[in-house]
Amino acid sequence: MTTTPFGVETAHRTSAAAARATDLSKVYGEGETQVIALDSVSVEFRQAEYTAIMGPSGSGKSTLMHCMAGLDTISSGSARIGDVELTTLKDKKLTQLRRDKIGFIFQAFNLLPTLNALENITLPMDIAGRKADAAWLDKVVATVGLAGRLKHRPNQLSGGQQQRVAVARALAGQPEIIFADEPTGNLDSRSGAEVLGFLRNSVREMGQTIVMVTHDPVAASYADRVVFLADGRIVDDLRNPTADSVLDRMKRFDAKGRTS
Ligand SMILES: Nc1ncnc2c1ncn2[C@@H]1O[C@H](COP(=O)(O)OP(=O)(O)O)[C@@H](O)[C@H]1O
Ligand SMILES: [Mg+2]
Repeated sequence: MTTTPFGVETAHRTSAAAARATDLSKVYGEGETQVIALDSVSVEFRQAEYTAIMGPSGSGKSTLMHCMAGLDTISSGSARIGDVELTTLKDKKLTQLRRDKIGFIFQAFNLLPTLNALENITLPMDIAGRKADAAWLDKVVATVGLAGRLKHRPNQLSGGQQQRVAVARALAGQPEIIFADEPTGNLDSRSGAEVLGFLRNSVREMGQTIVMVTHDPVAASYADRVVFLADGRIVDDLRNPTADSVLDRMKRFDAKGRTS
């Protein structure tokens, strides 16, 4: 059992890998138009840990998330969720795994406008024919601070509230891992801080595992660890980041000419 700087006991925190890439390469196109988006990337995302992925635009951040989440095929190497090797799965099994074990949060909230907040949150489970665990759902809704807004449709909610609905939707099914690609990219700084604080709490209090792409050193400072990508390779790995230490790292990459 460890005590975090926030004084929270985290007995659920283990060193098991929720996801792991080993020598993962992803090549788009052929011949002259070939792009090596990921170049033999090896990285492990531990359970109940919050990891930020940073790097210049085009460095492979989204590709890494998509490959690890089974949304894109890989060219070589290995991508695992828990003990499951994604490359061995046929389409149907892969769809099931994505549905049951993986949550996504995208920059565009992707909420259905005709459904209210609660209906949007439970939609993936409704599609899967699964019943939401009521106690868990209550906890998620209370933690995102949406208890009074469940009957509202997306156009009746602020951007921050809409993104919190999207976060709650990802958490509701208790996935083994959540991938978030710039989840605060469309939010003002106050709404962004709300969402980031909530994501961090879900890691601390619920043992959720989160991997989040961001451009923002302040957003990255909410994470336990920052992995830096450049030209499809991992170039640095920083623990217990602060906005200043992240900014410092980014400046050093810029100095080497790796600008976005
Ligand atoms: N579907 C695709 N077809 C061809 N090239 C792609 C595709 N998706 C991404 N790329 C290329 O792969 C590289 C990495 O892209 P991406 O992972 O989106 O970077 P990031 O998210 O870090 O900005 C870029 O050079 C991009 O142009
Ligand atoms: Mg991207």
